[in-house]
Amino acid sequence: MTVITAASGKLGQTLASAFAAKGLAGSVKLAVRSPEKLAAQQAQGFAVVAADYDDPASLKAAFAGEEVAVIISGVGPNEARIAQHHNAIEAAKAAGVKRIVYTSAVNPVATSRFDWAKAHEATEAELKASGIAYTILRDNSYFSNNDPLFANAKASGVLPFTGIAGKVAYISHEDVADAIVGAVTGTGHENKVYELAGSEAWSAIDLAALLSEITGKDIKALDVPVSAFEEQFRAMGLPEFVATGVGSFYAALGAGEYAATSRDVETLAGRPSTSARAYLARFA
Ligand SMILES: NC(=O)c1ccc[n+]([C@@H]2O[C@H](COP(=O)([O-])OP(=O)(O)OC[C@H]3O[C@@H](n4cnc5c(N)ncnc54)[C@H](OP(=O)(O)O)[C@@H]3O)[C@@H](O)[C@H]2O)c1
Repeated sequence: MTVITAASGKLGQTLASAFAAKGLAGSVKLAVRSPEKLAAQQAQGFAVVAADYDDPASLKAAFAGEEVAVIISGVGPNEARIAQHHNAIEAAKAAGVKRIVYTSAVNPVATSRFDWAKAHEATEAELKASGIAYTILRDNSYFSNNDPLFANAKASGVLPFTGIAGKVAYISHEDVADAIVGAVTGTGHENKVYELAGSEAWSAIDLAALLSEITGKDIKALDVPVSAFEEQFRAMGLPEFVATGVGSFYAALGAGEYAATSRDVETLAGRPSTSARAYLARFA
């Protein structure tokens, strides 16, 4: 059996759909802060239990009897995330879990412009030292992070980005979900690190040109400073650590930290990663 933490988010729900599509709902437990959010998945045959990264006892109970724990990275400032992931690794040890599959991020080093890379670096190190087999999946940026920008670009003709020439090997939530299913159900993934990046990399200039072609509107990329993104996040009422944390992510993207392409999605999922053209078709 497999348990998935933080399973109520967009990735967790996409992952549940991917397991269900393989007829595996009955062998998966979804561990979430608010089980009522997953009534639909429960009706599909998934076990749904309460578990909070800040509550070690709830994690231990959720992991009991499970072979594989998929730990979807949490949200919060670095110290909180590191502590939460630590709680999950300790709970897995206590419960006798055989392998942990962890969703990390591309370039998880403290020198990254992306502030939360530090939490991924710390969790990867803890996992590797845990004595439990691990499969680390370093996720590139989701295409969907830019959905509001793409939608506005269609209306305004402007695609604002920090570092418009910086290439990014975007992926979709479905790519990550299918790769996780492959990592959980396949063999030979113990103690391996995979780069879940697209097989092509796209700059904001490239994406604006592709969006122009797809929508029939003239769309141009516009280089804006990270501070403009941060101000917008503050104006939306997001907490300061989110404004600066997500701002630092855009700085890393624009600087080319996420440019490396990979075929690891195909290796794990058995199909190519989603192309930018296929993803952006929804904005036609
Ligand atoms: N690669 C990228 O571009 C990218 C972008 C955004 C995020 N991420 C990372 O990838 C993860 C999955 O992405 P996503 O799109 O699914 O994010 P999401 O939709 O924001 O989901 C976040 C999940 O974390 C859960 N969570 C937060 N605090 C928790 C706690 N204390 N205990 C247990 N669960 C907790 C949330 O539960 P509730 O439903 O209870 O709030 C939710 O299920 C994120 O959590 C983040 O670490 C990556």
